[in-house]
Amino acid sequence: MVLLGVNIDHVATVRQARRGDVPSVVEAALAAVKGGADSITAHLREDRRHIQDADVAALKRALKVRLNLEMAPTEEMVRVARVVRPASVCLVPERRQELTTEGGLDVLSHLKRFKSVTEKIKTKGILVSYFIDPEPALVEAAKAAGADAVELHTGAYSRAASPDAQHDELKKIQAAAARARELGLTLNAGHGLDYDNVGPVAHVAEVNELNIGFSIIGRALFVGLEQAVKEMRLKMAAV
Ligand code: PXP
Repeated sequence: MVLLGVNIDHVATVRQARRGDVPSVVEAALAAVKGGADSITAHLREDRRHIQDADVAALKRALKVRLNLEMAPTEEMVRVARVVRPASVCLVPERRQELTTEGGLDVLSHLKRFKSVTEKIKTKGILVSYFIDPEPALVEAAKAAGADAVELHTGAYSRAASPDAQHDELKKIQAAAARARELGLTLNAGHGLDYDNVGPVAHVAEVNELNIGFSIIGRALFVGLEQAVKEMRLKMAAV
């Protein structure tokens, strides 16, 4: 069965609109777990626009499921990860002006730096995943840099303008996933997945876990978070 990681950043986005204590990201994470989330992801961005340092620590204390910390491969974030010790870290590129993570890591251009960052995180017993575009060469570079897992960026698949274009993007995901399996990497995927487009990605044979945030949090406004997660699980399982 494909696992579901729920990204709760946008609960913090709502909270930060008033800079208060509610809605609570810990309460949201626990509701997501009740609905069937296998792990919780939080992205601590350099600009702290949604998740705050205290959230990451509180999530680590409260959760019985895995905490996946999404972060840029910077010295500051490596220090945070080594203190918090989440189950896994997903390294992502970060640009200050972007609305969300726009592209995958450029592993080919920064292999040496990523290798060093990865080693520093792994010595604390934390699994390291690289968020990459679905290209076999990037999967190979992630392996060379010491990653345990790759998370394939499904943004292009999710934004595809036609069924044919979406099919082409799915083919890229399948090819990259096959390469990851050959290299012994755990294969995750995410970004832009929603209730309508999740099915084909959930059925890519190598997929271990999907990480989904925005669509679930949006749906939760109408049906509650626990139910929104349950509905996503059903969509993932549907044939
Ligand atoms: N995976 C990664 C690495 C991401 O950066 C994001 C967005 O924060 C997601 C998954 C979830 O994307 P979405 O919120 O579009 O479901």
